[in-house]
Amino acid sequence: MDEDSRAPFTSLRRLATAEQACARCTLYRDATQAVPGEGPSGATFMLIGEQPGDKEDLAGKPFVGPAGRILDQALHDAGIARGDVFVTNAVKHFKHEMRGKRRLHKRPNTYEIDRCRIWLDGERKLVKPAVIIALGVTAARGVTGKAVIITKIRGKTLSLADSTKLFVTVHPSSLLRIEDEDEKHNAYRQFVADLKKAAAAV
Ligand code: URA
Repeated sequence: MDEDSRAPFTSLRRLATAEQACARCTLYRDATQAVPGEGPSGATFMLIGEQPGDKEDLAGKPFVGPAGRILDQALHDAGIARGDVFVTNAVKHFKHEMRGKRRLHKRPNTYEIDRCRIWLDGERKLVKPAVIIALGVTAARGVTGKAVIITKIRGKTLSLADSTKLFVTVHPSSLLRIEDEDEKHNAYRQFVADLKKAAAAV
């Protein structure tokens, strides 16, 4: 049976098992495993990243690498309890290219994001978060199915078709790439302010 036409998943565990068998695009071929979302099924907040990184691909868990550390700190600084958050990605397999022995991150394309939406939608149906926070353009495309320009919608309270509130902000790894310390500090403060705004919407 085609994945699109089968009955909805009844638990996050079953959904995660099905994700491991996903071959809806070619990304599964070079990844260690699919990385399903993680967190309580009744979480108030769903945070969506881009795709697993090198560390996440090996661990099978989202946001356990450097971007995850900055995200954890920002959630803490925004007063959002980690136990109230379901963390996932728009794309469940790690897209990368080999540079010598290193696996370098490659941004997923719109086809890959759109093919992977079935899993994100499944997570949304089971978790039913009150607020979704999309971290970056890939996440925003994963949720909305449309191309978005972050600077145009950052900080706005958007409403999805099922009335879930949506906030779009930057991806935490963009903060890691800023070299100037003052600039990095300001970008981090703005990121925390975005998370606080989302928290206040509940
Ligand atoms: N970046 C993401 O977008 N997701 C992860 O899980 C890790 C890094």
